[in-house]
Amino acid sequence: ADIKVYRASTTAPVNIAVVKYWGKRDPKLNLPTNSSLSVTLSQADLRTLTTASCAASFADGDSLMLNGELSDISGARTQACFRELRARRAALEAADPSLPKLSQMALKLVSENNFPTAAGLASSAAGFAALVQAIANLYELPDSPSQLSLVARQGSGSACRSLFGGYVAWRMGDKEDGSDSMADLVAPASHWPNMRALILVVSAAKKGVSSTSGMQQTVATSGLFQQRISNIVPANMASMEQAVKARDFAKFAEVTMRESNSFHACCADTYPPIFYMNDVSKAAIRAVESINAKAGKTIAAYTFDAGPNCVVYYLDEEAPTVLGAFSDVLGSGVTGWKEGSAGVKSSVKLE
Ligand code: PMV
Repeated sequence: ADIKVYRASTTAPVNIAVVKYWGKRDPKLNLPTNSSLSVTLSQADLRTLTTASCAASFADGDSLMLNGELSDISGARTQACFRELRARRAALEAADPSLPKLSQMALKLVSENNFPTAAGLASSAAGFAALVQAIANLYELPDSPSQLSLVARQGSGSACRSLFGGYVAWRMGDKEDGSDSMADLVAPASHWPNMRALILVVSAAKKGVSSTSGMQQTVATSGLFQQRISNIVPANMASMEQAVKARDFAKFAEVTMRESNSFHACCADTYPPIFYMNDVSKAAIRAVESINAKAGKTIAAYTFDAGPNCVVYYLDEEAPTVLGAFSDVLGSGVTGWKEGSAGVKSSVKLE
């Protein structure tokens, strides 16, 4: 009998969108209403580490330990990832009968975040990306990151962008089966090595309205949203790709802030309205505005996801100005901050 335990580990980074994914055209397959683009944060700061193992002797089914606690994997999204990866492994086993039948064994996953999961920072993206990549490594799948992004997308939409470092686009695609809704690399982190991200932890509480139900309500009730997906996002995707390629920070920053505003305006336009930002979030916006006004040019850009926490992008040469200005905001309700960037080690301070 096969008594071997097969094992593989990987890490996956957190990504923060500068052109936002907001809206599903197919909730079951996690197919988006628009393309999106993100910046991957440094794994030194924020990442999920996942080990996947399987063995013929694992008798009691698949399991996932997340930060030391047994996690529910019965949800349709997680099951879709397992099913898809097993099918890809089974195809390899069918083609080469000498391969061990890993696709038929129970999977044990152990996952750890190197940042406080409770801090309300995007963790599902890194989580699903690491889960998919770890199992793909275990199964020795030949799939490219883009091919794996098709699987991660089914776990959490934004997770498809965490299979890559750097600047990553998720192309919405137009096929009904989702086979062309995947991520690709716009530019590696090394393309723009002085890019930095400051994460302002405004609230450690779990978000009030989940992204899934917020998106559903937006698609169903916001009139502005139609304008956003038909005109605003396509134009912003094009400008953002140009800005990244040209390392044009002012343009990158303007599109980033306009995108965040457009997304939160659509949330406020739903009926009833959804508010993710609170007063401290708004103070952070004003702080960025005043930094840029004082500098006489755009040196900082804010963005907010489905919660009150703020991410500020800036270039390393502006660090003293940007970080200095934020120490005021830090004193008034921000509970912690994290400075990070694609591929650059940085400091952490959590009160
Ligand atoms: O991947 P989800 O379902 O958690 O949705 C993420 C939505 C935003 O973070 C608000 C935007 C984005 O593109 O990441």
